[in-house]
Amino acid sequence: MIVIDGKKTSQDIKSEIAARVAEIKTEGGKIPHLAAILVGNDGASQTYVGAKVKSCHEIGFESTLIRLEETVSEQELLRVVEKVNENPDIDGLIVQLPLPNHISVEKVTDKIKPEKDVDGFTPANVGRMTLNWPAYVAATPYGIVELLKRYEIETSGKHCVVIGRSHIVGSPMSILMARNGNPGNATVTLTHSRTQNLKEITQTADILIVAIGKPEFVTADMVKEGAVVIDVGIHRIADSSKKSGFRLIGDVKFDEVSQKASAITPVPGGVGPMTIASLLYNTLQAAEKKIYP
Ligand code: GUN
Repeated sequence: MIVIDGKKTSQDIKSEIAARVAEIKTEGGKIPHLAAILVGNDGASQTYVGAKVKSCHEIGFESTLIRLEETVSEQELLRVVEKVNENPDIDGLIVQLPLPNHISVEKVTDKIKPEKDVDGFTPANVGRMTLNWPAYVAATPYGIVELLKRYEIETSGKHCVVIGRSHIVGSPMSILMARNGNPGNATVTLTHSRTQNLKEITQTADILIVAIGKPEFVTADMVKEGAVVIDVGIHRIADSSKKSGFRLIGDVKFDEVSQKASAITPVPGGVGPMTIASLLYNTLQAAEKKIYP
């Protein structure tokens, strides 16, 4: 059984990007510049955005963090997005989600220029990805694709079952696994909260991608012997034996499922670290005008 090491793979990708940034510097080219908009004081969002900005710094990117009050109006946020859209020095823009309830995620997402949408959330990039055109692909599904590729996991002709249909993970994941490419060419079943006989379906999965957001939801009886299991979940649970008082677990019961899987991503250290690496890669592509030449 292989434990898929997302931490190491993400470090490899970051080193590759840092090497390219060093080349760009020598060539006198444009240093990639990521802007992140953070609205309010949500603890998890602050941590995520902080990690993204820190990673930019580590690999030699420029970054700008724009912090706005929880009470900022939708109109004002749209104005800030517009300003970043028009700033030629900024290559990529992310608006950290979730946004406060009084702001429409759709309106804000739709305002981001597709050329700078390194989160791959705009209708333009989701559509282009679906058509198998060059596109910014959302960080988590892109990170999973990269893990499958680098671990040389065969996907062609395999049955891939995705649990969860979110716009950020499950839905794009199902499209990427089905499309004509490598990884890809899988027969995909997208399951969700209304799926009947879920266990019967997951038992037939050669590749099982779990993004349901429920701690240890997938148990060994749901998994076929030899399956590849990708766990997107991340949950904090109380653990008095830890100094921090908590530990992280995923959507998959790792101890028992790893006994049956041929390869599995752990939590932490699996899919999680890959998301920032994907975002940085998209930002490099934006600076080099690879998607929209
Ligand atoms: N919130 C949770 N995941 C993400 C992400 O990948 N991008 C943004 N902008 N917000 C998020």
